[in-house]
Parts: sequence; C-alpha cells; structure tokens
Amino acid sequence: MSKKLFIETLGCAMNSRDSEHMMAELTKKEGYTLTSDFKTADLILINTCSVREKPVQKLFSEIGQFNKHKKDGAKIGVCGCTASHLGEEIIKRAPVVDFVLGARNVSKIRDVLHKKGAVEVDINHDESEFAFGEFRNSSFKAMVNISIGCDKQCSFCIVPHTRGDEISIPAELIINEAKKAVQSGAKEIFLLGQNVNNYGAKFSNGKKDIDFPDLLNMVSDIDGVQRIRFTSPHPLHMDDKFLQTFANNPKVCKSMHMPLQSGSSRILKEMKRGYSKEWFLDRALKLRDLVPDVHISSDIIIGFPGESEEDFSDTLDVLEKVRFEQLFSFKYSPRPLTKAADMVQVDASVASRRLSELQARHTEILDEISLCQKDKVFDVYFEELRSEGGVGGRSDNGFMVQVEGSEELLGTTLPVKITNPRRMVLYGEVV
Ligand code: SAH
Ligand code: F3S
Repeated sequence: MSKKLFIETLGCAMNSRDSEHMMAELTKKEGYTLTSDFKTADLILINTCSVREKPVQKLFSEIGQFNKHKKDGAKIGVCGCTASHLGEEIIKRAPVVDFVLGARNVSKIRDVLHKKGAVEVDINHDESEFAFGEFRNSSFKAMVNISIGCDKQCSFCIVPHTRGDEISIPAELIINEAKKAVQSGAKEIFLLGQNVNNYGAKFSNGKKDIDFPDLLNMVSDIDGVQRIRFTSPHPLHMDDKFLQTFANNPKVCKSMHMPLQSGSSRILKEMKRGYSKEWFLDRALKLRDLVPDVHISSDIIIGFPGESEEDFSDTLDVLEKVRFEQLFSFKYSPRPLTKAADMVQVDASVASRRLSELQARHTEILDEISLCQKDKVFDVYFEELRSEGGVGGRSDNGFMVQVEGSEELLGTTLPVKITNPRRMVLYGEVV
C-alpha cells in the first residue's frame, strides 16, 4: 500500500502552486498518493498564509485537531508563510509537528520529510531555477510561476519577510513549463508572481533584456495556448507598454487585478505603494478606454493606521469612478515585522463601520454590473462541475458563467447567452 498524503492549502494562488510543487515531489519521488481524508494520511501538510492574523491564530488549534485524529505514526509538516515567519517557534509551541518548511524553501520538501524536527525557512534561499516535478490539480488550466518573492516593502505586508526578495524565473523555464502543460491538455496558462508586471527586473544571474509584455507575447506564441491570465500585477508598473500589450494580445484574457489598497494619496504614501490616487485612476480609466469590456478586480484595506474619514471618502470615490467588477476588502490587520504595526491604530469599531459601508456600496454596484450582462454573449471556457449542478467556466473577461450540462462540456470553449445574471454567477445558455 502506498503512503498517503493530505495537504491543506490556505491563502493565495502562489500557495496553491507551492502545494502542487510539493505534491509533485512527494508523489513522483517519494511514492505518496493523495487523500482528501487526513485521518487516513501518513503525512499531513498545512500550507499556511500569514497575510492577516486570524489564520495564524487558528494554526495551533488546527495542529491539535490533526494530532488528535491522525493515524498512528503519521507526520505533520507546517509549510508556507507562517512557517517562514515563526520558524522553530512552531515546533516549540507544538512539538507534535515533525518539520517546518518556509514558503521560499518548497524545493527542500524531500529533505525535511526525513529529518524529525527540521526547520528550513531561509528567505534568501534561491529556488528560481529549481526544476520541480509535474503535478496539476486542474487539467484545464495551468498555474506557472514567473517569479519568487517580492521586492516591494508595503508597510502593512508581511510577504517580503516570508517570501524574500523578488527574483524572476528564466523565460526558457517558463516557456517549457507552459508547453508541457499544453501538451497535457491545458488551454489556459495562469502566470503567477507577487508583482508579475515587474518581471525581468532581476534574475539570479543579473538583468536580462526582457519584460512582462515580452513574456506575455512569448507565451501567447505557444501553439495550443488559448488563454493567458496572470496575478498579481502592481498598479505602479502599469505603464503604457503593459496596458497596450494587455489590450492588443487576443490571447490575454481581459480581466485585470488592480490592487488599490487605499484611494487616499496620503495613505498610499504611508503604505509605501509608490503611486497616488490620480495615477491609479488614470491607469484604470485608460484601461476601460482601451478595453471597453475589461473586468477590473481590486484589493482594499480599510482602517490602515491614521486613516481619517476624508481618506476613507477618497477610497469610496475611487470605487465610484472605477466600479470594480470584483472587490476583496479587508480590515487592516497589524503584522509582525512590518512598519505599520507600530503606527497609531484606527479604532476597531470605526474600521468595521467603514468596511461595511464600502462592501454595501460595492454590492449595489455589483448588482448593477450583473444586470447589464443580461442577453450578452460570452465565450466561456468550461472547467468545473458546479456543486449545485451544471457546468461552470469563465468568460474571457473573468465572469463566472454557469450553464446546464455535464462532463462533456469540460475543456471546451462555447458561446453562452446570459439569461439570468446573478451577483456572483451569470447563468446562461449555450447558443
Ligand atoms: N502582491 C500580492 C499581495 C499579497 S497579499 C497581490 O497583489 O496579490 C494580498 C492582499 O492582502 C493585499 O493586496 C492586501 O490587500 C491584503 N493585505 C496584505 N497585508 C494585509 C494586512 N496587514 N492587513 C489586511 N490586509 C492585508
Ligand atoms: Fe505585499 Fe506589497 Fe509585495 S502587498 S506582496 S509587499 S507588493
């Protein structure tokens, strides 16, 4: 009987890909098979997120639960960003943990597996050229990393302290991986990095003459690639070349993540985001001009230290002007190692009230946007069976669309007319 592996993945797309890399190493080279039931597993991995405090607080109670119900002799490993920042403290607080593996050390999964008490969390470790085995959760779309780490120092964000400096992955490796994914059936390539549009700023062996728009064009030249998506771009690096390439390359899906964080230029400065409200609006409105049906999503943090009512109304103002098709909004959460954690904090009830106001207004906007989609026809790439029945996929510009049907639609791209647009899902019929 083969050994069984259970992985719980929290957090962002980068973590999802890291989990796939670990699955590849462990299934291809250590003989594990995957299980979705941790009670039958010989190895339990928790791939953690540390961007906000809550999931970190939950980690230790979760380890306790796994330990209580796990199979005799099963190992527990803690990976990801919380592993990077707490390191050996995790084993001190929870001695049942067998090893700790940082978000920048995924390539060492096989080393730590065989060393009880191992802690590999060096954020200077460079695995930008490491050749991981192949494993993909989806056969329809393939995540492909284009860089590791982040060179920005946004004053609220712990990521540069858990994933280290930004290093771009050589374009040949990215192209090879995308080609392999296409050969095994994927039609959509999803490029991943903390600041994808800063691609090419630094490689392990110095600078090369290539940037993100060049990379987009190279990936789109691969036969069989039908769609390219990417996350996350940084508003600061949205220069004209990037916006033009985004607009003009037909394989690049017309959905853009533009993490605003705050609409107040004063707060943006405190956040060290490198752009102003005016720059953000200029880029977003230019994008709407270049690509009329573009879908813009964003991240907003409410209650950053020092945020006044006036700052908050700047954020609402950007929401009114850009009308994001999707919005992820969070209450500011002070994180260790970050500058903002030492600043004077906004009262929690004030932050909660502002967050509710922002979300309520965005919900109204979303309902208006959804209604406008009625009777439109979108090309939808079907990639999942929905739990409520039917088949789901995304329009080129990023709307979740659902139709009646079953497996035979998976992996196909078909025109769908929207008959019943709802807030989160547009229901329609294949035409
Ligand atoms: N470069 C990545 C950022 C990763 S963090 C990206 O653009 O996706 C993802 C989001 O979490 C950030 O955009 C920010 O909105 C939010 N976030 C980061 N640190 C936070 C904190 N301390 N409190 C609340 N939200 C935070
Ligand atoms: Fe975090 Fe800012 Fe980088 S949000 S991941 S430090 S771009």
